[in-house]
Amino acid sequence: MTQDELKRAVGQAAVDYIKPHLEENSIIGVGTGSTANCFIDALAEHKQMFDGAVASSDATAERLKQHGIPVYDLNGAGPIAFYVDGADETNDKLQLIKGGGAALTREKIVAACADQFICIADDSKWVNMLGTFPLPIEVIPMARSYVAREIVKLGGDPVYRQGVLTDNGNVILDVHNLNIESAIALEERINNIVGVVTNGLFAARPADVLLMGTADGVKEITAK
Ligand code: 5RP
Repeated sequence: MTQDELKRAVGQAAVDYIKPHLEENSIIGVGTGSTANCFIDALAEHKQMFDGAVASSDATAERLKQHGIPVYDLNGAGPIAFYVDGADETNDKLQLIKGGGAALTREKIVAACADQFICIADDSKWVNMLGTFPLPIEVIPMARSYVAREIVKLGGDPVYRQGVLTDNGNVILDVHNLNIESAIALEERINNIVGVVTNGLFAARPADVLLMGTADGVKEITAK
């Protein structure tokens, strides 16, 4: 199977996973990226079964609307039973690196609000140790150099993602060569640097279930 076929398979698997729980007033949290797009396309087939969605990015909001799925502001939405999103890396605790698509802050907010966080990914995202994928950090623009110097003190090599502004008007530093043995501690430490909006470690609030696309089918994995 190609990577695109695996993405479509996990997008459909996420719809199958949540479908029995959908009610007329359900609002679903929706992530960002090519795998999340596959979920949106599969979800659209069942749009009469739920009320609408909260989007983790402008791009996702646009795709949902194109399918005729109502998009709600998070502040006006009621409880969110499910948040479905992709990842750049996952370990066996379902701690993630996210933010390859620069949507990490809104993704983390919607994930925090959801009862259940379902991660969908092909098996190329599975790692023993997080950190081969450079860790994205969203930074207030005027703090970029300061945050970069603080990151170097933590042993990382920050690279400014040129030409990218997040939906919140901020910049991204992609940090290479970090030691991410203690993911929760590092997530907190980086978030405490003044000027950091958030970082792409999803460790304090990991996924609850991973639907992973493999050549042998979609595997349902819970945290070790
Ligand atoms: C966007 C993200 C995405 O979930 C992550 O980059 C995975 O994307 P894709 O499904 O396209 O591989 O965190 O900010």
